Amino acid sequence: MVKTLNKKSNPSIFIIFGGTGDLAKRKIIPALYNLFLGDRLPEKFAIIGTGRSKFTDAKYRSSLLDAVNEFSRTGKAEKEDWSKFSSNITYQIANIKDAAEYKEFGLSIDKLKEEWKLKPSITYYCAVSPEFFCTIAENIIKSKLENDQETTRIVIEKPFGTDLQSAKDLNEKLLTIFNENQIYRIDHYLGKEVVQNVMAFRFANAIMEPLWNRNHIENVQISVTEQIGVGTRGDYFDDAGILRDMVQNHLLQLLCIIAMEPPINFEADEVRDRKVDVLRAIQKIVPGKVDTIAARGQYGPGWVEGKEVLGYREEEDVSTDSNTETYAALKFYVDNWRWQGVPFYLRTGKRLFKSASLITIQFKEIPHNIFNNHGGNVPQKNRLIISIQPDMGIRLQLQSKTPGLEMTLNTVDMVFDYSGKKRSDSPEAYETLLLDIISGDQTLFMRADQVELAWEVIMPVLDYWENNKMSNFPNYPADSWGPENAEALIAKDGYHWFNLPEKNKKD
Ligand code: BG6
Repeated sequence: MVKTLNKKSNPSIFIIFGGTGDLAKRKIIPALYNLFLGDRLPEKFAIIGTGRSKFTDAKYRSSLLDAVNEFSRTGKAEKEDWSKFSSNITYQIANIKDAAEYKEFGLSIDKLKEEWKLKPSITYYCAVSPEFFCTIAENIIKSKLENDQETTRIVIEKPFGTDLQSAKDLNEKLLTIFNENQIYRIDHYLGKEVVQNVMAFRFANAIMEPLWNRNHIENVQISVTEQIGVGTRGDYFDDAGILRDMVQNHLLQLLCIIAMEPPINFEADEVRDRKVDVLRAIQKIVPGKVDTIAARGQYGPGWVEGKEVLGYREEEDVSTDSNTETYAALKFYVDNWRWQGVPFYLRTGKRLFKSASLITIQFKEIPHNIFNNHGGNVPQKNRLIISIQPDMGIRLQLQSKTPGLEMTLNTVDMVFDYSGKKRSDSPEAYETLLLDIISGDQTLFMRADQVELAWEVIMPVLDYWENNKMSNFPNYPADSWGPENAEALIAKDGYHWFNLPEKNKKD
């Protein structure tokens, strides 16, 4: 994953299908703009946004400027910077379902090649709803747009399929058109700063590896909680549910990064092979036993930071008797030498008490306590807490003597954090991912087999939940830590969900 972009010889063209959509405005364009500000884009680049509405280039650029001003981590764009950047943006109206309308893209590509006198890399970015992924791929070919295997890429956003079979079908179709090394399936969690740092932390430090196994680790918790509800995405979410929306992709990928064996090198396929090994080693869930390893919930109404919020069933475009889960907790085992018997607990949900993404590695108890006679000291187990967001950092909880005349133990944190850094200093996940796409580095993108295996892992739960409705939904109020059955899931093993102590809220 060495980013060796030759800025002179690698001109780049981005064709963004869904160029007027939310994703383009919130993520893709601000990320490209920040790469431009950081001097990370090729000297010669072009962005062609496309959609069904009619826009002049000027009007399109101005709508993107509003988006950058609102969503960019670096704040409002400086006039001069924006004018330089946006001079590379054009808009093309097109009905993505109609291959005839793709001809214009071909003409634009030819014109740029002629002007640059260099062969550009071309990225077809599908920032559209999933039902159009294949249509776009097919129409690129029908209209004979450039499809050079070395320099042409197609970017596919999630969700990649809605179950194992649909993911297989989608892969099969895409792979008749593009080669695997041209397909960039996005899981934006893999681009997050701290998630990438886990690789450095694990594989660039000699002291971690000897501890990183069943002999020293008691359990692992992966927790991605969100304070927001489904908002305006009820239509999509009510069909998907949180298991498809978050667990199949983001949470399982985090599990892979924690559980994977050290790769031989940092090449894309080597790293992805090791993640695939983890997915293959996850113990198969027995359909009749889903209730013993998984818990689900749906939020009811409540109050969040002084404001009254709707329950899930009252949200826009959600059915009033919906049985869709907005919370999921699961327990997995990874059946291999390293992890035999170590539970991996995953939880994620909407409208929870706090937004936080944490991975907690809980180490085992010390084998013998020599401090027993000193005021009943019971050393706490060590924990390594990897905080992905909103705080970014890694903390190791150790036991230490409280200064004073007594031998009293307490927990201290050794902390590496990014808190000295402003949000504007750390690249957003999409910047990392876009730069990788430009450089042709697939390490942080999902390969076909990874996506399918991840579906395979959750299919028994998906099927069971679809066929067995919950009669007590909604079963957790907004602003809580989720349903009681999720507490029970972990409590029966003698553990509890770990939450970072609040700085300014009650815990
Ligand atoms: C998306 C899900 O993939 O990730 C959303 O579709 C979720 O439902 C989002 O809110 C969370 O991403 P982040 O980066 O805000 O943690």
